[in-house]
Amino acid sequence: MKLFLDTADTNEIRKYAAMGLVDGITTNPSLIAQSNKTREKVIPEICDIVDGPISAEVISTDRKGMVEEGLRLAEIHRNVTVKLPLTGDGLAACRDLSRQNVKTNVTLCFAPVQALLAAKAGATFVSPFIGRLDDLGETGMDIISDIRDIFDNYGFATEILVASVRSPNHVRAAAKIGADVCTIPPKVLGQLLKHPLTDSGLAQFLADHERAKL
Ligand code: E4P
Repeated sequence: MKLFLDTADTNEIRKYAAMGLVDGITTNPSLIAQSNKTREKVIPEICDIVDGPISAEVISTDRKGMVEEGLRLAEIHRNVTVKLPLTGDGLAACRDLSRQNVKTNVTLCFAPVQALLAAKAGATFVSPFIGRLDDLGETGMDIISDIRDIFDNYGFATEILVASVRSPNHVRAAAKIGADVCTIPPKVLGQLLKHPLTDSGLAQFLADHERAKL
């Protein structure tokens, strides 16, 4: 499973890219706003750090506007993946951009049948939002299993990009199901790294090493 970092914070991206853990990046307008930079400034910075798909989301909501904006975003760098909302216009724009060989990520997917539509529109990635479904009392991860089955039934090439990830358990479940990609906030990637037995084991080894020198 590929790991993407779900952030526009270039310090966090640099930190985890140095560990070789970052296969790509996802951003959205909220994450761009948190970076205190414009999308046009931060996306090229991210492209300089990570050599993998970098999702940049359109703000337009009509097909023509999304296609024009998407083409402008795609010109920033060969790795830019145009993120489009899962609406009728978004799917039409996805079809148009896919036909022009622009990589796309259809976002705000909350149901397996929506993912089926994104695949039929030729999306490179579809992003089902797990945590936001959990927030409503549903089991978000259930839709990932369903989407995996549907895509495998018909051999769709669209990659399942698990989004709105809130915990290491989400990452484990996504990997067990066979999702193609999981996009993870830096905080959760930090949690994945940590285990108390790793810390205590290392402390014990170092203490024993010091004692052996006496
Ligand atoms: C990624 O593509 C999504 O924009 C992001 O994972 C949404 O996460 P959130 O539900 O925590 O805002």
